[in-house]
Amino acid sequence: MNTEEQTYDGLIKACLGAREAILASREAVVVSHVDADGLSSAAIMCTALGRIGIDANPVFFKQLDGSALRSIADLNPNLTIFTDLGSGMIGEISELDIPAVVADHHRPSQAGKHSQIAHINPHLAGGDGSIQISGAGCAYLLARSLSPANKDLAQLAVVGAVGDLQDQSQRRLVGLNRRILSDAQEAGLLAFGPDIRLFGRQTRPVWKMLEYCQDPFLPGLSGDEEACIAFLKELGIRLGGERWRRWIDLDQGEKSRVASALMRHGLRAGLASQRLERLVGEVYTLLLEREGTELRDATEYSTLLNATARYGHSRIGLAVLMGDRDQAFEDAQRLLGQHRQNLVNGIKLVREVGITPMQRVQFFDAGSAITDTIVGIVAGLCFQMADRSKPLLAFADTPDGCLKVSARGTMELVHVGLDLSSAISRSAQAVGGVGGGHNVAAGATIPPHKKMEFLELMDRAIDAQMPRQAKPG
Ligand code: C5P
Ligand code: ZN
Repeated sequence: MNTEEQTYDGLIKACLGAREAILASREAVVVSHVDADGLSSAAIMCTALGRIGIDANPVFFKQLDGSALRSIADLNPNLTIFTDLGSGMIGEISELDIPAVVADHHRPSQAGKHSQIAHINPHLAGGDGSIQISGAGCAYLLARSLSPANKDLAQLAVVGAVGDLQDQSQRRLVGLNRRILSDAQEAGLLAFGPDIRLFGRQTRPVWKMLEYCQDPFLPGLSGDEEACIAFLKELGIRLGGERWRRWIDLDQGEKSRVASALMRHGLRAGLASQRLERLVGEVYTLLLEREGTELRDATEYSTLLNATARYGHSRIGLAVLMGDRDQAFEDAQRLLGQHRQNLVNGIKLVREVGITPMQRVQFFDAGSAITDTIVGIVAGLCFQMADRSKPLLAFADTPDGCLKVSARGTMELVHVGLDLSSAISRSAQAVGGVGGGHNVAAGATIPPHKKMEFLELMDRAIDAQMPRQAKPG
């Protein structure tokens, strides 16, 4: 691995190469991924292009496979800019023989140069795209190389990174993300600092925020509304006045009281202090957004974006990112309500079907009860409560008769050798599927009748990656 400085320099150099291709164009198709990071990447790119008079046409894909590439080629674009995807298909993109820029943070499928393509990816510069920088971060560096005035887009790169959970393992953004964070702060658009890390600080009644606490799962509180209300009342926290009080409505003293009581509660329930520390960490506030809205907080913002993109409504999320605070924002909030319900139902389903342990992995199969586009999110949430010494694989049927797999691990497992991206891409390929991603989170699509064979391959691949005695939690 290179130092962070070397990776940064490598990325900036790659951006300068891409800059030439972009400035020579009058229009571009921007191809991106249907999640919060993909949408943030597309918004950064489309805004930056618009500012220099280049007409941008955004298109979104669940997965960049052969048919997606053919539909892109059919558009006959002057220039195609791939953001938050593309690196896993770099060889195939190169075969299309079209002028292209790829700004992605997924592990590239092939090394080497491709003459028609400017390829911006931290892995090519000795870095790691799983937590150091997101797709939106790469798109941002490219945007900033087009014009320093694009520094205001750094806040969207923070939303993208948080959407890809890059702040999770160390409870703060790390690596190149911190440089982007500084840009956003310097632009006066974003503030960050320590706070409770529970979801819903801006928008949920405090007891709801506690009730949905998954990381860590708090026995006796998580999932139990009445217990959460009683817990807060006992601390003398007033729950409502004219309206229900949210975390942001509490004063500093009240916040500290709740945080320490949660720690005490967790310790009494037998949680390790290492797990409990996860309650507190760095949080990111978008200063120009209205208080009490999802957009004010990077985590809530990214969930709002997922609620659009994961259900085929990427354009709504993109419109919000590009400034629409009227119809698109309203639509996104409505979709968020449904998304939340789907996640709650998904977690319930996993409890019902259970997680099956194998030797080195564990899995559940949601069938068609969880949509393939959110099964990865559900897997991430359930993994908080599962055995964290083995990666979790989650299966769901896709509408076109394939089987979607989402794999989730921990950074502790990565430190002892886990690389889900390589395990899943090889195992999927061996059964006629396609997969890729990051060391800590990856995905694939495989033929349904190959599920057991795929599981066996994954079990063996993980066994080969990690020493047997390694059981970090
Ligand atoms: O779909 P899921 O959320 O499980 O994906 C986890 C990560 O793996 C994401 O970053 C996604 O872009 C990546 N992935 C990939 N190739 C696939 C499926 C997922 O690179 N075929
Ligand atoms: Zn991403």
